[in-house]
Amino acid sequence: MKAAIMIGQGAMILFMTLISSAVSTAATVSGSEAAVVTADETSFSCIRDMTPVRHFYVDNLLGDIEGTLAAANSPEGAIYPTGSVVQLVPTEVMVKREPGTSPATSDWEFFELEVNESGSTIAKRGFVDVMNRFDGNCFTCHVPAKEKWDFICESGHGCEPIPINHKMTGALQRSDPRCGETALESGDTMALIKLKTMVIIGMTKKWLEDLF
Ligand code: HEC
Repeated sequence: MKAAIMIGQGAMILFMTLISSAVSTAATVSGSEAAVVTADETSFSCIRDMTPVRHFYVDNLLGDIEGTLAAANSPEGAIYPTGSVVQLVPTEVMVKREPGTSPATSDWEFFELEVNESGSTIAKRGFVDVMNRFDGNCFTCHVPAKEKWDFICESGHGCEPIPINHKMTGALQRSDPRCGETALESGDTMALIKLKTMVIIGMTKKWLEDLF
């Protein structure tokens, strides 16, 4: 009787070993889908070293830049592949995490960075509750573009337009402090001054709202 139990246990252990090796083989076979996206402050550097698409930049932390570019250039919209990184300005980043990480955001993780000459630090990261420096919720603004465009707003994808134009976002890209030398074009200084003024007015308004 005791021997029978022991044989039974042995068979069970053998069975479990077979199952776990089958599972790990399946994980290896499915390739990039099982790959882990590691996003930390070393993942983000000079925005202009990424690949330009129209007025913004893309990259892929798993090396699938072709997949990311195909999604970004699809005229009908597409789901961006795992590992995709999208940036319009140096301080705000969207990273496509592993499938199933966050169904509400279609697996996008939102980042608010602090950037300076020595690199990036992550001020905030997360899914539905990340606020940018102007107290705006990334997810809330981007969710109207969920269908078809996978949360990428650009223009005409359903998001409310922001009061910052592409001359201003271009000037911010060309003056990213992580790139070393700035590469300003004519009109950039004026665009940056305008932007700064808007931020000051915005902040003053917020300050007044807080007071009254
Ligand atoms: C007030 C609404 C609003 C908030 C808050 C906001 N965004 Fe956006 N975001 C937009 C709009 C609109 C665009 C498109 C702007 C354009 O190209 O004219 C955009 C563009 C972008 C882009 C370029 C790709 C695209 O969708 O066009 C990225 C990346 C991005 N935002 C990330 C973020 C992150 C990360 C946060 C939070 C830290 C954030 N955004 C907060 C409205 C917002």
